Amino acid sequence: MALVNSKKMFEQAYKNGYAIGAFNVNNMEIVQGITEACKEENAPVILQVSKGARAYANHTYLVKLVEAAVKECPEIPIVLHLDHGPDFETCKSCIDGGFTSVMIDGSHLPFEENIALTKKVVEYAHERGVTVEGELGTLAGIEDDVKVAHGAESYTKPEEVIEFVTRTGVDSLAIAIGTSHGAYKFKPEQCTRNEEGILVPPALRFDILEAVSKKLPGFPIVLHGSSSVPQEYVKMVNENGGKMPDAIGVPESQLRKAAALSVCKINIDSDLRLAMTGTIRKFFNEKPDKFDPREYLKPARANIKEIVRHKLRDVLGCAGKADECK
Ligand code: G3H
Ligand code: 13P
Ligand code: ZN
Repeated sequence: MALVNSKKMFEQAYKNGYAIGAFNVNNMEIVQGITEACKEENAPVILQVSKGARAYANHTYLVKLVEAAVKECPEIPIVLHLDHGPDFETCKSCIDGGFTSVMIDGSHLPFEENIALTKKVVEYAHERGVTVEGELGTLAGIEDDVKVAHGAESYTKPEEVIEFVTRTGVDSLAIAIGTSHGAYKFKPEQCTRNEEGILVPPALRFDILEAVSKKLPGFPIVLHGSSSVPQEYVKMVNENGGKMPDAIGVPESQLRKAAALSVCKINIDSDLRLAMTGTIRKFFNEKPDKFDPREYLKPARANIKEIVRHKLRDVLGCAGKADECK
């Protein structure tokens, strides 16, 4: 089947208490690892491309890689989504260039400006069958050029969501409830430590999620910054020449809980980066004589596939749901 927008996926995900995985793609091995996992698990999927990914790999290459995945996996629905669209022009260029969904991220703007920008993108997108994600509230962390320091983030205000959704016409809304981008989601001071000395992060603000859902019944909510930063990969990085002290993510149990509520899209990038980097570091450490990129990219791709399979089955709950999302 051809690329689809996110409408049907979100309807099914909301109704049946699961979330669609939105995984960031930057090169062929990442596209292959994700889509091979989704094909084997018969899961719908969102492949998302950031401004940085477009600058790195080039729009045309990324679209063609995703089209190749669509051809190789005809039995699963795939959305090609712009992640954190920074302005109207970038959204327009992606819509004109084959994307089926875009995010316009006006979360750093004053409320009225966020509404005006988001509405403009929605009007352009909807005329072309493309779905749009907006955002209210800001996450800490780094995404492309925007860096938000811990402490400077702001939770979504539930009292703003009805007006934002009604006036913009967005199809889904990203909210800030305590997740953040990258591999260092919580400062050690915010956490407690368990018996093994592992950091235990504070809980997400489910009270805000519930208040938002009450205001917008049936409306799909999106969670960014939802990597769990698997400690086995942090260890693999650190034991093989890397330095990622106190890297910590969102516990998977909290994401499962969110997926069963109104959260229909869960964004995961850092976990795939960690799986890839940990695997390659270990390979180089153990086999310093090797220099054929295929030899280290192959296990890296295999581990991306494994981590995605785990997310689909055990976290998002969307394994086996491809058919109902078509
Ligand atoms: O939210 C950010 C995503 O992880 C994409 O990261 O902007 O470095 O491509 P990037
Ligand atoms: P992570 O950094 O937690 O993987 O978040 C990715 C994301 O939100 C992409 O938009
Ligand atoms: Zn994000």
